[in-house]
Amino acid sequence: MPPHPLPLLTRLRQVLRPRSRAEALWSRARKARFGLRPLHNLVHDLRFGGWCGGRFENPFARQGAHHIQSVDYAVLDHLHRENQIPIHADDLLVDVGCGRGRVLNWWLARGCSNRLVGLELVPELAHATARRLARFPNVEIVPGDAIENLPPDGTLFFLYNPFDGTAVRRFRDRLLERIRAPRRLRVLYFNSRFLDPFRTDPRWRVQMLRTGEPEPAALITPA
Ligand SMILES: C[S@@+](CC[C@H](N)C(=O)[O-])C[C@H]1O[C@@H](n2cnc3c(N)ncnc32)[C@H](O)[C@@H]1O
Repeated sequence: MPPHPLPLLTRLRQVLRPRSRAEALWSRARKARFGLRPLHNLVHDLRFGGWCGGRFENPFARQGAHHIQSVDYAVLDHLHRENQIPIHADDLLVDVGCGRGRVLNWWLARGCSNRLVGLELVPELAHATARRLARFPNVEIVPGDAIENLPPDGTLFFLYNPFDGTAVRRFRDRLLERIRAPRRLRVLYFNSRFLDPFRTDPRWRVQMLRTGEPEPAALITPA
């Protein structure tokens, strides 16, 4: 009679446990507040003139704006690498709610000489980010409501959960009104909490992405 599969599985798990513990520890060490990932973020931030970390309440929260927090460089690396999201030489890259500007740093660190636009609602943040990146002639920071300021030539729009569902709906409709080349349009939405406005609209196609994080992400394109 063949051995019962359960004890076998249990044994296998026991054999593997030291490794998975080590992996869990390693993952915790990477992501902890004073761990490797924040250190990696800091080192890369400093290359571009200042720390972009921290988490801050948004003074415009009542208007649906979410808190201010920069995405980890490792997340951007993973998203692009694991989902094969190319950046073309003629893409106009837009960070919708650029905050302290880490996504712009990441594009610059990749050697993008494309036009890079950061749209930011909180004026003090927008001005600080503009000052920090003033030496890069291809970077423009536009203060104000991103949805009112979408550059018509934008092709790749990045979002890190900047605003609530009502604003996502406005963003969706404004994109189609304003964008000159919808066939080239891509929206990369990390921590995509409000996908329904796109999912339920037949004008859009939503593809879920691998993030390597608990937060989901999606690539959204016109159908
Ligand atoms: C979670 S942070 C992301 C910052 C940056 N994109 C990053 O990933 O590192 C979201 C940012 O979106 C901004 N934001 C929220 N609503 C906005 C709006 N309507 N227009 C422009 N920026 C907005 C917030 O002020 C905040 O700085």
